[in-house]
Amino acid sequence: MKVVNFLVALAVLALVFSSAIAYDPSPLQDFCVASNGSDSAVFVNGKFCKDPNHATADDFFFSGLNMAGNTSNQLGVHINIIDADVIPGLNTNGITLVRIDFAANGGLNPPHNHPRAAELLTVLEGTVYAGFVTSNPDHRLFTKVLKPGDVFLFPFGLIHFQLNIGKTPAVALAVLTSQNPGVDTIANAVFGSNPPINPDVLTKAFHLDKNLVSKLQKQVWVDPSE
Ligand SMILES: *[C@@H]1O[C@H](CO)[C@@H](O)[C@H](O)[C@H]1NC(C)=O
Ligand SMILES: *[C@@H]1O[C@H](CO)[C@@H](O)[C@H](O)[C@H]1NC(C)=O
Repeated sequence: MKVVNFLVALAVLALVFSSAIAYDPSPLQDFCVASNGSDSAVFVNGKFCKDPNHATADDFFFSGLNMAGNTSNQLGVHINIIDADVIPGLNTNGITLVRIDFAANGGLNPPHNHPRAAELLTVLEGTVYAGFVTSNPDHRLFTKVLKPGDVFLFPFGLIHFQLNIGKTPAVALAVLTSQNPGVDTIANAVFGSNPPINPDVLTKAFHLDKNLVSKLQKQVWVDPSE
């Protein structure tokens, strides 16, 4: 009986522990203004913290998110990421803000996922077709056509995308539930890995002709950028 109790306690502990490390940890202090070293006092979450006595309002501030991004690139998309490198005081607060600009007629934020975050997207301008796909085995596709004021959630870690289906530029703001959400752009990871994945893997996995695979692997896969 004691052994059973012990095992149950262990399982509960394991559950608590795994959920504790599945999300950004508690900040543990009022703030930890990220610092690159020179005036650091403490070290939390991979960043040095500024001595709290030296923190100022500017450590929690950013200006310029009203500025449109340059979408003159292959995908017709520009992503401005406001994270702890931009607002140092954001460090340990478990949140990232993103402005996405889409070129008229097909600007695309290609299929990608955030390994460490859920994302809540609000369209401010334009008409955006957005969707996400659930994991194995169902692969259910959920989509919406979003207009200004519409909000859509991309659940934690799932593959998602946004396409401007309007004739005018589109703008969206997104919040992500991590200060370091990470991005895996699917096509880039698969066909643009460094060094390249053995083509036999991709030929079989994607049911593709081997010549097409090597052609795809020779392309330049630029991540949607700032
Ligand atoms: C936008 O980016 C393109 C490609 O890099 C560049 O040629 C162009 O000058 C940029 N436009 C502006 C307004 O900065
Ligand atoms: C710290 O380093 C990051 C990454 O190199 C940089 O983007 C950021 O501007 C730097 N922050 C400060 C406060 O110097």
